[in-house]
Amino acid sequence: MSAAAQSPAISQATRDFLARRHQLFIGGRWVEPASPGTIEVVNPATEETIATVARGGPEDIDRAVAAARAAFKGEWSRIGTHQRSRLLFRLADQLEAHLDLATELEVLDNGMPRMIARHSIAKFGCDFLRYYGGWSTKIFGETIPVQPHEAPNGGSLTYTQREPVGVVGAITPWNAPLIMAVLKLAPALAAGCTVVLKPAELTPLTALLLGEIISQSGIPDGVVNIVPAFGHDAGAALAEHEGVDKIAFTGSTAVGKKILMAAAGNLKRVTLELGGKSPFVVFPDADLSRVIPGATRGAFFLQGQNCMASTRLFVHDDVFERVVEGIAAMANGFRLGPGLAAGTDLGPLISADQRRRVMAYIEDGRRSQAELVCGGEVPEGKGFFVRPTVFAHTTMDMKIAREEIFGPVLCIQSFNDSDLEAVAAEANKTVYGLSGSVWTRDISTAHRMVNLIDSGQVSINCHAAVDPGIPFGGNRQSGWGREFGREGLEGYLKTKATTVLF
Ligand code: NAI
Ligand code: MG
Repeated sequence: MSAAAQSPAISQATRDFLARRHQLFIGGRWVEPASPGTIEVVNPATEETIATVARGGPEDIDRAVAAARAAFKGEWSRIGTHQRSRLLFRLADQLEAHLDLATELEVLDNGMPRMIARHSIAKFGCDFLRYYGGWSTKIFGETIPVQPHEAPNGGSLTYTQREPVGVVGAITPWNAPLIMAVLKLAPALAAGCTVVLKPAELTPLTALLLGEIISQSGIPDGVVNIVPAFGHDAGAALAEHEGVDKIAFTGSTAVGKKILMAAAGNLKRVTLELGGKSPFVVFPDADLSRVIPGATRGAFFLQGQNCMASTRLFVHDDVFERVVEGIAAMANGFRLGPGLAAGTDLGPLISADQRRRVMAYIEDGRRSQAELVCGGEVPEGKGFFVRPTVFAHTTMDMKIAREEIFGPVLCIQSFNDSDLEAVAAEANKTVYGLSGSVWTRDISTAHRMVNLIDSGQVSINCHAAVDPGIPFGGNRQSGWGREFGREGLEGYLKTKATTVLF
């Protein structure tokens, strides 16, 4: 076993989990893949292999879809809505009971700091399951007062029912692995769907833990199937599968487009949570004691590997220098290290590839007219670390300002315009429209800017507020549909209309 896996910071339960033989979870059983293959799981803080996991392929996707279809037609279709609620509540309780193990596995697999993993699993793992557990008893249709031509004199009744869409293929990314899995599973199960989950090949561990928890939760066999696998073969097979009714995807915009094309074969439904390049607009009257930590944390949360990161700051000239200095001081103070080490503020990036991609953007920024204020380097030693990096005086014709970097790189642009439409036009100059925020004490400026920014979420004096009840999703190339809240159920439901003449 590797040095990292033997480190005293790691509990015996985590060591046992890492050392275990990890198979695919299909039809309620742990099974070998149809063709032998494995995924090596790397700790991005040490670059060491910490576990080996069975790698599924297209044939395993076939088996998992068949199991999900059988469960959808079978026991799951007859289970009552109260029982669905109870099962989701129980899953939340069991995940909470495994919080220490889930946290350590997430940190070792993804690299994020322990406190972030712990808080987010408790909040978005457990609370999210309970939130949607509450919804399964509150899904209902409408009665609609119409007088069909067929019954000009007689009576009629038209009503709708909401039905589960069927078998869902969930394809999730590596930046917050367990939470991303739960974000798909909870509304799918609440709606009465069954699921084939394909976690990201880079971070399969907590999805496998979820499989172990699910196998002991009373959820019928085949309702949730988990196939760790790569995207280009097994992910693509799931996206084009004739037996799948809906794909729920979170990941890159490029792969989101491929999924849309693959889905055309049987016209399955698709929801997409894709990239972002979210604006954070600071007016001169804003409370800078909140702006500076808000912008710094918003940009560097998960090392910038998150779709709602506040990666583009637009700061009024009058406060520009103070904001840039404040952010640089805070970013320079961040301690980089393994997520399990005490005092770590920022972990590593997910992989050597991701660091290469991020460093190419940083090099591009260095060659531009922008000013490199801090960071820009890779620290000595093991682990895929990059220092938090701030570029000032960026403009929207620069690649670093336009494209999603998915790393710790913040672009700060100035404005001196009192014309809000001109400021918003700059903020809207990307293909994305996921999150955004406006910072001012002037309620009129704030609300006018909210109306002008083309994003699924625009907050005032905070950035990227997240809660299971707040709808979240993108405009333009940031995605299709919304997750979270009541709207998050919609993608897992279809409407049946019935008219009765009497
Ligand atoms: P990706 O989009 O390739 O991976 C996300 C998921 O899609 C993984 O489970 C992967 O196996 C799967 N996948 C890949 N190709 C597929 C295909 N042809 N069909 C079906 N599934 C497929 O993301 P990647 O390559 O790991 O990261 C590259 C960039 O994507 C990042 O730098 C970032 O800009 C963006 N990204 C955005 C995320 C978000 O939360 N919006 C999450 C992850 C990446
Ligand atoms: Mg990829």
